[in-house]
Formats: sequence, structure tokens, C-alpha cells
Amino acid sequence: MEDQVEEVKQKTDIVGLVGQYVALKKLGRHQKGLCPFHSEKTPSFMVNEEMRLYKCFGCGAGGDVFKFLMEIEGIDFRDALERLAEKAGVKLVSRKFEVPNDKQKLLEVMDLAARYFHWLLTEGKSGEEARKYLEDRKINSNLIDTFNLGYAMPGWDYLMNYLVNKKGYSEELLEKAGLISKRTGGGYYDKFRGRIMFPLQDASGKVVGFTGRILPSLAKESEPKYLNSPETEIYHKGRMLFGFYQARQAIREKKRAILVEGQMDLISSYGAGVSETVAVGGTALTEDQIEMLARLAKTIYLSLDADEAGIAAIKRAVDIAEKRGLEIKVVNIEGGKDPDEIARKFPDKWRELVENAIDVYEFVMLKSLEKNDISTVSGIKKVTEDVVPFLAKIENSVVREVWTKKLAEKLGVEPSVVKQEIERMKFGRGPVEKYQLRNVPDKNEQIDNKMEKLAKRLVGGLLICPGAKSKIRTWVKDTKLPGALGKALAMVLDTDENDATRLVEKAPAELKGLIEDAYMAEGEGETEEKDVLSLAVQLLREVIREKRKILIDELKTVKTGGSDSKEEELSQELNDLDREENKIMVLLG
Ligand code: UTP
Ligand code: MN
Repeated sequence: MEDQVEEVKQKTDIVGLVGQYVALKKLGRHQKGLCPFHSEKTPSFMVNEEMRLYKCFGCGAGGDVFKFLMEIEGIDFRDALERLAEKAGVKLVSRKFEVPNDKQKLLEVMDLAARYFHWLLTEGKSGEEARKYLEDRKINSNLIDTFNLGYAMPGWDYLMNYLVNKKGYSEELLEKAGLISKRTGGGYYDKFRGRIMFPLQDASGKVVGFTGRILPSLAKESEPKYLNSPETEIYHKGRMLFGFYQARQAIREKKRAILVEGQMDLISSYGAGVSETVAVGGTALTEDQIEMLARLAKTIYLSLDADEAGIAAIKRAVDIAEKRGLEIKVVNIEGGKDPDEIARKFPDKWRELVENAIDVYEFVMLKSLEKNDISTVSGIKKVTEDVVPFLAKIENSVVREVWTKKLAEKLGVEPSVVKQEIERMKFGRGPVEKYQLRNVPDKNEQIDNKMEKLAKRLVGGLLICPGAKSKIRTWVKDTKLPGALGKALAMVLDTDENDATRLVEKAPAELKGLIEDAYMAEGEGETEEKDVLSLAVQLLREVIREKRKILIDELKTVKTGGSDSKEEELSQELNDLDREENKIMVLLG
């Protein structure tokens, strides 16, 4: 299998593959374009044909052909492999290798269950009431097919009978799949009964779980309206977005995703022509879910209930959005209706609402102003407490300033006062404390970074101009740079391999990524041997500077402590360093 993965990789033209999604232009050793994984105006996304790698210097995304397809299509490794293998004309011999047997079996049984439920809804006699119910909710056969909807009969063991007696699966497997539950007195019963079934599909369309809505005539106080599959080996609710499989293409094309609460909201929205819609499905919105969308979209439109959970979801979305350069808008629905109701009855109105979505900061302000009376001091205080935490998250200071002014205007106070509150939140003991660290890096960190930067450039430079190795090998190795970069540098200097691709292949696993990265970063320019030599010299000077700093510090403590011999020893070391530096200055010319 491993060989086949390698073969597919070798036979896949990475420039051709990426080129289907990104306009590329030749630059140095790379092809360059606008990163599809974050929004940017100047290109920092590179593809290297020789190494079959891509790398974005803006957001850090990077990897090989498989990773690219996985990320851009939101699919898993197996799917990416299968697709590329097909294109490359490589026959994959064994699939067992990739998917543990158990998972494969679970997927199989879920698929069968989905087909069974779908058949009952579309053809089965017992599906009559369910069909009527969906018809009343304006869910036509097109939508039923697109979302693979189904129906579970009200009895206790229809599905179990079908899968165990007819298809030969074990009860243990069905229980593991979350389709049946143990009875207290022994035996099992169907978990989903008398419900419209919504299959939960992963990004490649495989059914991994279900949500079932009870038929109104069967509704009981003791039973939830919507029943969800438990988490299983194949279903992780924090990573599931209902409808993602159906919406993915539209999200990528329109560069936006509409996020709604429930399954019905999504299906009606889709029916109204807003096919880039996905649903969270009643659980709290997670970072993973936002990430899934952020890979494809530039803007996320939230249309969630404005309850506490909804506000928390908005907060999480803003957090990630600010980190990833994503834009968040809110589809503001008045009067407590859900998207389903509007999209079903007035599709035009729903589309209009989506187009008129407002900026998330505007929304937070509006909501707070609605419920507080700002003619009172306590009202103003409440609005400030609601809104300032959001504004403090805005990374771009110009944008932050704009919203600061707006809030000040609405409250009738000086912008400087609002600004002060924001600063207090940002740098005080507020929830965004971490920003302080990033804005004021300590001195050690900066020096380390400079040394690391030079070392990394040198690694990349040596891959491009291996001829420089012999000239600097001994003196650079003497510096004994610490950490992974030091190891990478030593490895690159030691090896006789002059072909960059093969060198990366030979590198120990823990250094591979680092060396690839270094190569990608350096390959953007036109690095020549003299540049590599100059990099080596700069690195040495940096190392010497660092050593000198430590020695001088030590000397200071020794001087106050008064040990003559130690002082002499340190002075001698300092002299040596000076001499070393002079030598290097000569080399530098
Ligand atoms: P709602 O109660 O708002 O239902 O729950 P809805 O979407 O309007 O559904 P209809 O129109 O009555 O059919 C919102 C979402 O919360 C989840 C479901 O995903 C639902 O769509 N939910 C709700 C559950 O998971 N369990 C429940 O018991 C209720
Ligand atoms: Mn509803």
C-alpha cells in the first residue's frame, strides 16, 4: 500500500492539480498564487513541482498532493488517495489496509440502514404518513433524494430484523453503530422509531449517523422531538455539519457558507436556492466545524437562534474568524421565526435576508441596544459590557477604530472612553489576555527568532545550492546550534546527497517537514551560492553575539563576586570570540 501511495504521489502533477483551484504564475523555483485556504490580496501561496509540495507563507497551510485535496475538498485521506489514484491510473490493490475492518463494517451497516429508511419513505406502504408530512412541509422528492431522507417505522425491531435476519449483521455491531439499544430485560430494540430520518454524512458523502424527527402524530412528552445517533467510532458530532457534503461545491464557488440551526432550516434554505447552507443540528458550534467552513469560504453567515447558545457560538466564530482573516455576518431574523419558516413560505424573502446580512459587530451592538435603555447609566454600562469584549478581539486596529467610533456614537460618549475600555479588556485581566504576550515579545524570543530564521534560510539555501556545503561544513557545524533546526542543518551539511527531493526522502521523519518548509521558503527567491555563504556568515555572527552576551553577563556577576581567575578565564573567552568574529568578517569581504 505504501508503495502505491508513493506511486500515486509521483504520478500526480501537483501544479496541474492545484491549478484547478488556484491561478498560478511562475516565480523562481515555484509557482505562485493566491492562497485558497485563507483570504489574501497578495499571493503568498507556493507550489513546487520538483518536490510535489505546496506551502502558504501567509497562513502556514502546506503539504503534498493528498493533503491539498483533503483540505480543499474537505475529504479524508482515503478519498483523496482514491481520487488521485484513479486519475493517475494506479489500481489500489487493498483497501483493507487503510480502513480498520471495524470502521468499514460500521460504514457498511449505516449505508444499508440509510437505504432501508429511504426506501420506506419513498416506496414503502408504511411511509404514507411520513410522505404526507414532508409534502406539507414543502419538502419535495428532489430534496428527499438530495439529502437521502428516510423513514423509520414505529415498531420496535423492523430495522434490527432487516439487518440481522436478512443481511446477517450482528447485534453487537448494530449497537456499536448506535442503531439499536439494549433492553433492560435482555435483547435489543430499534433506537429510531416513527421518525423522519436525516442521514448524517461525512464530507465524502458516507453515512456515519442519523437524526430522526418524530412524526407529529406519534409525539410524546417523554420522547425528544429530534433524536440523534450517539457518538461512535465513525461519528463525532463536533466534526459534523449537516449538509456539508451537499453544500461543499456551492460554498467553494460562492466563497461563503450559511450556517443555520436545524435540519429543516437547512433543507428549506437549500430548497429556496441557497445551496451553500449547512446546519449545526442542535449542538454547540465547535471550532472544528468553523474550520471546515473556513477552508472553503471567505465569509460565514450565521443564522442561529439569538439565545445564549447562539451568542456563545457567535463568540467562538469571531475568535476563529479574527485568527484566520475570515468575515462573519449575521442574518438577522425579526420576530422569532426560524429560517425554515421563512425560506419555505417566502423563498425570495429568505434570499433577500441572506444578501442583507449585517456585520457581526453591528449585530452584537444592535441586539444589546434593543434590550437595554441607554438613557440610563446602567443601560450604557450593560451595552458596554456586551459589546466591548467583541470589539477587543478585532485584530486590525483600523477596523477596531471604526467600530469603536460607532459604539461611542450610539452611546453618545467620546470614542476615547470606549477605546479605553477596549484597551483595558485587551491588556488587563480581561478574557483576551493572550494578546499582550504576542504584541510584546521578550528580548530572548527576538534573538532566537533571528538565529532561527537564518538557520532555516541556510538549510533551504543548501538544498538549492549544495555546492556551498563543502565550503562551510566545518565551521558551521562547530556552532552546534540547538533544537530541530540545529539537527536539520547538521544533517543537510553532512549528507552527500545533492538532489533536494531525494535528500528530503532520506531525512529522518521528525526533520522532514522542517526541511521541506525551509526549501519552500528559500525557493521563492533566486538564491545563489554566494548568498548561501553570506547566510552562513550572518548566522555565525549571530551565534557569536549571543555567546558574547552570555559571557558579559557572567563577567558582571563574577566582577561583583571578586574571583580573579574566573574573570581572567571569561575575558580570554571573550577575546577568542572577537578573533573568531574578525575571521568571519574577512570571509564576508
Ligand atoms: P427546534 O426545536 O427549533 O426544531 O430545534 P426545528 O428545527 O424548528 O424543527 P421543526 O421545525 O420543529 O421540525 C432546533 C434543532 O435542535 C435540534 C435539532 O437539530 C433541531 O433542528 N434538536 C431539537 C435536537 O437535537 N433534539 C430535540 O429534541 C430538539
Ligand atoms: Mn421549525
